[in-house]
Amino acid sequence: MAADDKNKVTVLKLRRQKRKKNKTVLVTAYDYPQARLADSAGVDAILVGDSLGMTTLGHKTTIPVTMDDMIRHSEAVSRGAKRAFLIGDMPYMSYQVSNEDAVTNAGRFVKAGMDCVKVEGAMTERIKSIADAGIMVMSHLGLTPHTRAKLGGYRVQGKTAKQAEIILEQALALQDAGCSFLLLEGMPRESAAMIANKLEIPVYGIGAGDKVDGQLVIFHDLMGLFWEFKSKFVKRYCEAGQMMQEALKQYAAEVRSVEFPSEENFYAIKEEELEKLLGGGNWKTEKIVYETDQGFPTNHCATPNTTTVKNDARAEDPPLDDGNK
Ligand code: KIV
Repeated sequence: MAADDKNKVTVLKLRRQKRKKNKTVLVTAYDYPQARLADSAGVDAILVGDSLGMTTLGHKTTIPVTMDDMIRHSEAVSRGAKRAFLIGDMPYMSYQVSNEDAVTNAGRFVKAGMDCVKVEGAMTERIKSIADAGIMVMSHLGLTPHTRAKLGGYRVQGKTAKQAEIILEQALALQDAGCSFLLLEGMPRESAAMIANKLEIPVYGIGAGDKVDGQLVIFHDLMGLFWEFKSKFVKRYCEAGQMMQEALKQYAAEVRSVEFPSEENFYAIKEEELEKLLGGGNWKTEKIVYETDQGFPTNHCATPNTTTVKNDARAEDPPLDDGNK
């Protein structure tokens, strides 16, 4: 059994950060390279969010995301992140039906390498069951995407004193039920600050202002890799999508102009093997012009001799040397 890395971020460190008023840094990640980048950049915690559905799988919402999707991506993230505290997001209908379902599915996240699971809504009974099973839980209140229809859409929550008090009551009940962390999404900073101050457990925010104990941002929002919409609370730290597109355009241009691959990308062949290959008479270099379906010839070799080969002969029948006629 592998021992934990001594630098591993634990619940104790996260609680200490709240006590000392040091902000905690959270980001989502969905695969091995993203996890490695986040981990080596020193973020404290990584959420394998079911936002995976939108950022990575191309769905319009998080609703279609399954437990199997989440486990596959949680495993990849846990292989890439050795230090950060890891949170697995329980997808739609993986915890709503029964306590038994919730505990079983939370256990799958732990087996996939997660330190904690996240559950949306004021699910006090479910949180108690999961916590009683020895699994840490982060509750998620405010704008909760799984119940967005009930909220009337993706709307900022806690905008009135009454609404903020209701969320505070829910948060206190969840803390009593055993949840270890709270995440507030889409709330005015004052409402979120009031809740963070009243709770003993660390309270993080995404679009909930600067007075909470730490910030979560979605990897793709931060990097410029999500184009469908940009929420007000998002700050882009780079335009990785644009950079990647430029790189792909350049790659395509260089393949077409035969600039790539070039000398530095070729594998070497020994002189004597080359002599056998080219001098043996079987594979004399010659200019082969393929007639493509579109009628555009494609040059494959630039020596003076020319053989014309029909396109359909290309895959199965490489042109044979005709004795250098
Ligand atoms: O899935 C996710 O990334 C989330 C955040 C939006 C809080 O739940």
